[in-house]
Amino acid sequence: MNKSLLMIGLAVLLSACGEKTEKVAEAPAEAPKAAEQATAPAQQAAALAVDKAVLAEEAKAAVQALGSTLKGELEAAMKAGGPVEAMGICHTKAPEIAKAVSTEKGLQVSRVSLKNRNPDMGVANEWQTKVLNDFETKKAAGEDPATLVHAEVVGSEFRFMKAIPTAAVCLNCHGTDLSPAVTAKLSELYPNDKAVGYKEGDLRGAFVVVKNLVQ
Ligand code: HEC
Repeated sequence: MNKSLLMIGLAVLLSACGEKTEKVAEAPAEAPKAAEQATAPAQQAAALAVDKAVLAEEAKAAVQALGSTLKGELEAAMKAGGPVEAMGICHTKAPEIAKAVSTEKGLQVSRVSLKNRNPDMGVANEWQTKVLNDFETKKAAGEDPATLVHAEVVGSEFRFMKAIPTAAVCLNCHGTDLSPAVTAKLSELYPNDKAVGYKEGDLRGAFVVVKNLVQ
């Protein structure tokens, strides 16, 4: 008895839903009613999408903080002592600044590249390599490298990447026409250096931000 009542109830509900959906298609004025009927998974997805946008803004701010501090320090060091002296900025200062920004913002910020200079640092893992390749494809299709970003939530991890275009100042140590002093220093410090031969506007790599959403 109870069971059949339930079945009837369900049937009424289902047909009502069906009817309403059809009506909505004809009359957009009823759209809010359809939204109220949104299923739980859809609502969850919507909540996640909002979070993702907020997280992406947070990540972008962290990356900008790292990028501008790094570039500022690099330019100052280049002016003060030239590229050989300034190498320490990319070597020691970059991870230091990344660590400071990470602690301050509660995220892990780093830099990765498909063509690494330091084989122990900034080697892209599998998902990062995929995103870097995707950035290359988009750039080849005409997208501005300065605008290339990637954001996704995988399990309990928020993952963000922002492309790093090669600027003119970078060419002193990552370009095609390096000074003999720079070349000598690089081959001394990084015998397996792959991070040369770039032109202005090329993708030097990307900033990576990872945030554990369960803390
Ligand atoms: C004075 C020389 C110098 C200049 C100028 C320079 N870099 Fe570097 N860069 C290095 C060195 C040295 C490393 C390796 C750092 C290490 O040991 O971890 C490096 C590493 C990197 C890495 C990490 C991935 C890798 O290849 O190991 C990125 C990304 C990077 N540089 C981007 C840039 C960008 C972007 C600019 C311009 C804004 C720039 N660099 C300018 C010397 C330089």
